[in-house]
Amino acid sequence: MANMYNDKVMDHFMNPHNVGEIENADGVGTYGSPVCGDMMKISLSIDENEVITDAKFKTFGCGSAIASSSVATDMIIGKTVEEALAITNEEIIAELGGLPAIKVHCSVLADHAIKSAVYDYAQKHGKTYAALEGFDPNAEEDDHHDIPEEE
Ligand code: FES
Repeated sequence: MANMYNDKVMDHFMNPHNVGEIENADGVGTYGSPVCGDMMKISLSIDENEVITDAKFKTFGCGSAIASSSVATDMIIGKTVEEALAITNEEIIAELGGLPAIKVHCSVLADHAIKSAVYDYAQKHGKTYAALEGFDPNAEEDDHHDIPEEE
């Protein structure tokens, strides 16, 4: 069977960048995919100019989630919070050189985990960002409303 993943995806899966957790991070976010239930945790160091100086991730997720987080954390380091928030999961996929269609949600996991970490930073520092308006770090709960609650 042909490998459905390109070399860049495989490389970031085998040798992911920025794995781990930042101690005393300025923002920490966890996101669970409503699609597959996988989890992603991102921690960020953010300086006084709102520049992301470091980003690390841990995931209980698939290879595509690992590859997505690896490139996504590379992409946001050195960017301002606003610039990082503007990055879409399509840009993460483009940076990876493509993901199979059934794996697109894995890049969303990385994207949303970053937004959750920035959300945490914004809450702690009394900041607001237009890009986070309406963003709910616990949104996955809402996607399960078709599952009947236990009585
Ligand atoms: Fe869950 Fe990829 S299948 S993140």
